[in-house]
Amino acid sequence: MSASAKDPAGPLAALARDARRGLAERFGIPARWIAAAPGRVNVIGEHTDYNEGFVLPMAIDKHVVLAAGPAAPEGGEAAEIWSESLAASVRLPVHGSPKGSVPHWASYLQGVLAGFVERGVAVPPFRAVIASDIPLGAGLSSSAALEVAMATLLEGVTNTRLAPRDKARIARQAEHAYAGVPCGIMDQLASVMGQETGPVLIDCRDESVTPVAMPASSQESTVLLICDSHVKHSLGEGAYARRRAECEEAARLLGARSLRDVTPAQIAAAEAQLGPLLTKRARHMATENERTVTIAEALRRGDFERAGALMYASHRSLRDDYEVSVAEIDLLVDLAAKLGLEGGVYGSRITGGGFGGCTVSLVKAKDVDAIARHLTDGYERGTKKALGAFVARPTAGAHLLDPAQGTS
Ligand code: GLA
Repeated sequence: MSASAKDPAGPLAALARDARRGLAERFGIPARWIAAAPGRVNVIGEHTDYNEGFVLPMAIDKHVVLAAGPAAPEGGEAAEIWSESLAASVRLPVHGSPKGSVPHWASYLQGVLAGFVERGVAVPPFRAVIASDIPLGAGLSSSAALEVAMATLLEGVTNTRLAPRDKARIARQAEHAYAGVPCGIMDQLASVMGQETGPVLIDCRDESVTPVAMPASSQESTVLLICDSHVKHSLGEGAYARRRAECEEAARLLGARSLRDVTPAQIAAAEAQLGPLLTKRARHMATENERTVTIAEALRRGDFERAGALMYASHRSLRDDYEVSVAEIDLLVDLAAKLGLEGGVYGSRITGGGFGGCTVSLVKAKDVDAIARHLTDGYERGTKKALGAFVARPTAGAHLLDPAQGTS
């Protein structure tokens, strides 16, 4: 176990210390560079990113940290990277290597390295250790955070700075070409451009990122509760790519550049042409885009009842039309809905790619402990599985840390 949760300087400082200590133990060197990239929770706007739509993610105070120093003189032209949580290491030639030649977890790193090499950036050999407190496969973007942490580390190691969107694109390209998931840009942009003030509204067509701050009066009184079902999702298994292909087919049939441009009314009118399956997929997309833009306004006004109602509606749409939920997640949303406003819950929904993972709930801070207990008990009774529940705190996007951090 890392000391993360207990460190008085906060979980990120503790992770940095873990990574730094790992570098000393594994390679016997001090850290010259330390890079951190956060995971994210998506408040709403699910599966809309690859349809050029709107998303509302928030970078959370859980990170991937990479601590690194120069290579040993006899180390050759390679980056040697050790993962603390997997207790495994990989050697990546710094001039690039053919995809498929490394274990899956390292393909994210390999893809990012390739992105730098393709841009003509010379990467010197180095040694690094990864530490992370983002649960894997929980829909909180552990893989995007790994990619973005690697890109941030490479900025440090090569003394270059990428434009934020370019950095996110390198990370996404690694996921597409090396990890085999045809994801959108949400997770990588959230990890690069996250804000301490709260969620960001991203228009995935022009990639503009707009912070959405709640009124100062409600920042302490209203929080996002994340519940991890411990049902592992895996986006690489084909369902994600199938959903994406279905959306592209629906857009093609409707003569639209993407489903971003299609309204619920147009979909209803084209039902016969689309058939039942594509109608459902397209309907989720059109209604989810409307919900996402509307919720951003509701949150800015502090209208949490409206925001919560939109979260429940998003969940129903993902469950019934997009078909990416699972029974355990539906149970969690139902338990939250039964507590309702009187119990301190404004709204709840599945978050992330789906097929397991987490729910995100908008709740009153004063009730959050009681809500977490209630959900934990109900979930354990209903599924015989343990629930992981924690409050998501907004955090800044990826950055280099002072390498002296965590020395104590
Ligand atoms: C995963 C992908 C994202 C996005 C979400 C669903 O997290 O990486 O690009 O499509 O699923 O909203």
